[in-house]
Amino acid sequence: MVSMNSSAPPSPSPHQSVFVALDVPQRESALQLAKVLETHVGGFKIGLELFCSLGPSIVEEIGAQNTFLDLKLHDIPNTVAGSSRALARLGVQIFNMHCLGGGDMMRAGSDAARAENTDVKIIGVTILTSHDAASLYQLGLHEEPRDAVRRLALLARKSGLDGVVCSPQEIEAVRAECGDDFLIVTPGIRPASSAMGDQKRVMTPREALDKGASWLVIGRPITAASDPVAAAKAVFD
Ligand code: C5P
Repeated sequence: MVSMNSSAPPSPSPHQSVFVALDVPQRESALQLAKVLETHVGGFKIGLELFCSLGPSIVEEIGAQNTFLDLKLHDIPNTVAGSSRALARLGVQIFNMHCLGGGDMMRAGSDAARAENTDVKIIGVTILTSHDAASLYQLGLHEEPRDAVRRLALLARKSGLDGVVCSPQEIEAVRAECGDDFLIVTPGIRPASSAMGDQKRVMTPREALDKGASWLVIGRPITAASDPVAAAKAVFD
């Protein structure tokens, strides 16, 4: 297990607000990155690809208490309660579920998780950034993505979740709607010096924190750098 001191919400050091997205296909590369980066960032995001390939053992090897497990649960309340309980038992620091699963689903998931582990943070996925107004309309949501995000963030809060994932452009609206103690996790972050990749609407790490983000998810600007440690250290330069 990679050892880090974490589990608390963001500390005063801005680097502790960074979760590195371990979007790599193999156990060895994930573990190697976690090992060299562990003292320079707040934790690691493990997504569906790595989890589906390797299972819960990769979470244990990285260190569950340093892990944001990004599985985006979405099912009937009873099923989400059962999976949330299992993730809380695994000891992850953060996991998430889709707000579009509804208030009852979020409540069932968060109650079940907290009964197992009072430290776990549960985050709602509002609207995927791959959606635009037209694709929301197809789903019967006749509103702008930004309005849907605000509405769903509030529903997440009322349903017992600790925060939401949203794009950097939505940080201020969610913060205003949901208050100072609500956690805002944002991907789409690009240090000033790095390439955009396929992210279209980006913000620098400093800007995102200044706008009110609690945690930043950064992947390729660190993991694809020739020197990931140097890139992690330079994130706020
Ligand atoms: O490499 P990059 O910094 O773009 O990685 C961002 C991470 O955040 C990836 O794991 C991606 O799947 C995730 N993410 C995102 N946009 C969202 C939700 C999650 O980029 N709206």
